[in-house]
Amino acid sequence: MKRIKSEKTFAQQMDAADDLAAFRDAFVFAEPELIYLDGNSLGRLTQRTVERVRRAVEVEWGQGLIRSWNTNWFHGAARVGEKIAQLVGAGPGQVLVSDSTSINLFKLVMAALSLRPQRERIVSDALNFPSDLYILQGCMHLLGDRHHLHLVPADDDVAVEPQVLYDAIDERTALVTLSHVAFKSGFLHDAAAVTERAHQAGALVLWDLSHSAGAVPIKLDQWGADLAVGCTYKYLNGGPGSPAFLYVRKELQEQALSPIWGWFGQHSPFDFKLEYQPEAGIAHFLVSSPAVLSMLAMEAALDVLLEAGIEAIRRKSVQLAEYTIDLVDERLAPLGFSLASPRDSARRGSHVTIRHSEAYRINRALIERAHVLPDFREPDNIRLGLAPLYTSFVEVWEAVDRAQRVVEEEWYLQYSEERLAVT
Ligand SMILES: Cc1ncc(COP(=O)(O)O)c(C=O)c1O
Repeated sequence: MKRIKSEKTFAQQMDAADDLAAFRDAFVFAEPELIYLDGNSLGRLTQRTVERVRRAVEVEWGQGLIRSWNTNWFHGAARVGEKIAQLVGAGPGQVLVSDSTSINLFKLVMAALSLRPQRERIVSDALNFPSDLYILQGCMHLLGDRHHLHLVPADDDVAVEPQVLYDAIDERTALVTLSHVAFKSGFLHDAAAVTERAHQAGALVLWDLSHSAGAVPIKLDQWGADLAVGCTYKYLNGGPGSPAFLYVRKELQEQALSPIWGWFGQHSPFDFKLEYQPEAGIAHFLVSSPAVLSMLAMEAALDVLLEAGIEAIRRKSVQLAEYTIDLVDERLAPLGFSLASPRDSARRGSHVTIRHSEAYRINRALIERAHVLPDFREPDNIRLGLAPLYTSFVEVWEAVDRAQRVVEEEWYLQYSEERLAVT
C-alpha cells in the first residue's frame, strides 16, 4: 500500500510497526474517545499505580500502621531516587525524591550561590519556567540583593541562540540555571555544551529537568552537571502533586549545604539531638516526612518507564513529533496556525506547540466538544504533549483532524475568552 502521510492509514501503519505500542495497556483509559495530549503536564495513570496505592493504603497503612516506616517508607526517598537516577544518567547516591520542584530549586540555588561567594551573576533564559525565576529572585532577595540575574532573550518565544547564551557566561557568573526543555516551546538545550561552557568560566550548572525526564535521554554524570531538579507528574506519570527529585553531583555533596535544616537531613534523626548535624552524602538535602502515598504511586509508574527504556521512548517521541509537525503544516497552517516549537528534532523535547490568534477558544472547543485534551499557554499557544508510552499515531491524526473541524466549522466561536483558573 502506498504510504501517504496525510491519510489515516499511514498512522495505522505506524502504530502497527510501533515497538512500544503494547505499553498503552499499562495505562488507564477511562474515556476511550478522549485523545489526551497533556502528558507533558500531568501524565496518565498507570494500572500499577492503582494497585500500588491500594496496597499502600489498605496493607501498609491500614494494617502495618507505623511499622511500615521501617519496612518500606523511611528509605523511600533514596530508593525511588535511584530509579529516577537511571532515567537521568546518574550513578548511585546522587538523586533523592523530596518536596516539590520549586522547593528543591530553592535548596540547590542557595547551596550553589554559597559555593561561589565572590561571584554575583546568575544566568538563565527567558524560556525558563516562571516559578524558577521567582525562586531565583527570592534567593537573591534573601542574600541581600547582591546578585544580578541575567536572562538570555529568546527569539520569538521559541528558542535561545546558543552563542548568545555562551557569551553571557563569564568569570562573574556563579550559577547557570536553565530548563533543559522549555515549558512553552519545547526548546531543548544542548546540555553538555552549556555545562562545559559554564565550567570553563568556573560557574556551577543547575538543570531543571521537569519537561525532559522520562522523555529525553539525560546524562547528568556524563555532562558533568553539578545540580538538577525535576518534577515527576509529567512524563514520569507520578500523579498530581507527586514529589519532585533533586540531583547533587557526588563531589559537591560534602561542600554543598541545604539552606533548610530539617530532621530528615539530620544524622541519626531518631537520636533527637538538639544540635543539627547534617547527614553525610546527599541525604542532608532532605527536610521532612515525605508524601509517602504520592511517592509510592510514582515509584510504581517509574517501573513502566524503566521497562520501556529511554532510548526507545525518545525514538518514538521524535517520530510522533515529526508526524505532528507534518500534519500541522499540511492541514492546519492554511487555517492560521503556525509552529511555535523548533523544527529541528535535536532541539525539541516531546511536545509540539502551535500558535493561532484564537488559540484560547480553539483549545476550549477541542476539550469540550472535540474530545481532544491539549493545553493552552498565554498568549496564543496550544501545546500538544506527545507521551510515547501511550500516545498513538492514530491519536495524532485524529487530533489534527478534529482541530481542523473546530476551526473550519467555527466551533470555537461558542466559547468565551475568559480564562479558567488552570488553562
Ligand atoms: C519546568 C518546571 N519547573 C518547575 C515547575 C514547578 O513545579 P512545582 O509545582 O513542583 O514546584 C514546573 C511545573 O509545571 C515546571 O514545568
